[in-house]
Amino acid sequence: MSGNRTFTMIKPDGVAAGNIGAILHKINEAGFRIVAMKLTKLSEEKAGAFYEVHKARSFYGELVSFMSSGPIVAAILEKENAVADFRELIGATNPAEAKPGTIRALYAKSIGENAVHGSDSDENAAIEAAFHFAGTELF
Ligand code: CMP
Repeated sequence: MSGNRTFTMIKPDGVAAGNIGAILHKINEAGFRIVAMKLTKLSEEKAGAFYEVHKARSFYGELVSFMSSGPIVAAILEKENAVADFRELIGATNPAEAKPGTIRALYAKSIGENAVHGSDSDENAAIEAAFHFAGTELF
C-alpha cells in the first residue's frame, strides 16, 4: 500500500525567483496538506549528506553547491498516494521534458535548477522528512 506523506523542497532558484507563494498555491490546489514547513538554508555539508545517494554522479558537486547557495523551503506534505501524485504534479526532472502545467514546466530553469524536489519513494520520503524535521511537531 502506498503511503500518504511525501517530502519536498522549494530549491534556491524557486525561492530567489519569488515563486514560493505560487508553488505552494499549486501544491494546495492539488489537494496536499502541509503538515510541517520551514524556510532554511543548507550548509554544503548538509546538502552533501541529503544527496549522498548521488555522490558518484558527475553532477554531485554542482548539485551540492547549488542546493547550499541560498534559502530553501522544506516541507512535509500529506495526501493519499502522496509520493506518486506529487511527482506527477512537479513533472519530469528536466523541465524541458516536464508536462505543461507541472511545477517544473512553469518554474524550473534547467535540470540542475529545477525549482522543487520531491521524494521518489515512501522509504525516501520518511528518511528525507526525518532529515529536516526530526523532533518537530507535525500538524
Ligand atoms: P532532485 O529531484 O532534487 O534529485 C536529484 C537532483 O539532481 C535532481 O533533482 C536534479 O536537480 C539534479 N540532477 C539530476 N540530473 C542532473 C544533471 N544531469 N545535471 C545536474 N543536476 C542534475
